[in-house]
Amino acid sequence: MRTFTASGLFVLLVCSAVIAAAERPWFCHELDCPKFTVTRKNDFYETRIYTKGKWASTQVQGYVYAASLTQGFYRLFDYIGGKNEPNVKINMTAPVVTKVEHGDGPFCKSNFTVSFFVPFADQVDTPQPTNKDVYIHDTPSATFYVSQYSGFGMDDITVTKHANDLMKKLEEDGEEFEKEFYFTAGYDAPFKLTDRHNEIWLLKKAPRAEEVLAAGEALLTKELSS
Ligand SMILES: *[C@@H]1O[C@H](CO)[C@@H](O)[C@H](O)[C@H]1NC(C)=O
Ligand SMILES: *[C@@H]1O[C@H](CO)[C@@H](O)[C@H](O)[C@H]1NC(C)=O
Repeated sequence: MRTFTASGLFVLLVCSAVIAAAERPWFCHELDCPKFTVTRKNDFYETRIYTKGKWASTQVQGYVYAASLTQGFYRLFDYIGGKNEPNVKINMTAPVVTKVEHGDGPFCKSNFTVSFFVPFADQVDTPQPTNKDVYIHDTPSATFYVSQYSGFGMDDITVTKHANDLMKKLEEDGEEFEKEFYFTAGYDAPFKLTDRHNEIWLLKKAPRAEEVLAAGEALLTKELSS
């Protein structure tokens, strides 16, 4: 049985104008990481609005999460290491985000799109990858439901369990989200043994215009009162 089905559309919420610049969370450590605002939180997940930003990405088709992630990771690692025009080093960022689109059955490959956030200093004049499998793209502001877990948990069973758990909770809560894919976010290098932080992100379905306005007003009120 497969809970997530093939391919989907990236439907996104655009209301970045009122979003406060969030402070860097502990799990980003000293690295640049994309800015987000938490709008709701419960014991199981939180709702985050990410600001728009630029990412370097590469797609890997494969059967196994960890192997595909590793393959994509090294392409991007080479890109930041100098395989770019004008051949410069780019700082590592956090998290490493992987979009997972499962194939239609156990004998079909899944798509894993691995992404590094482009450091703030390089967001405008971004070095271009020389490997044609790596591309730079912009993501608009978007809302994600995020669950968090510690430890290694890179195997397919753990990852899909966390994704399916979050999906179940969101369904119980009547939230609207994209079900064709999910994202994993890993914040730590493989050799780090403690305080490891991992997340599952599910993309909230684009809300109606009045909800965008209400969310904008809520954020603005929060801003003004803090
Ligand atoms: C890259 O990281 C180093 C070490 O953390 C830091 O000193 C430097 O300012 C960073 N460079 C840019 C362009 O952000
Ligand atoms: C994977 O991506 C390719 C194109 O990049 C597409 O043709 C295929 O349908 C995708 N498969 C899944 C499972 O999303």
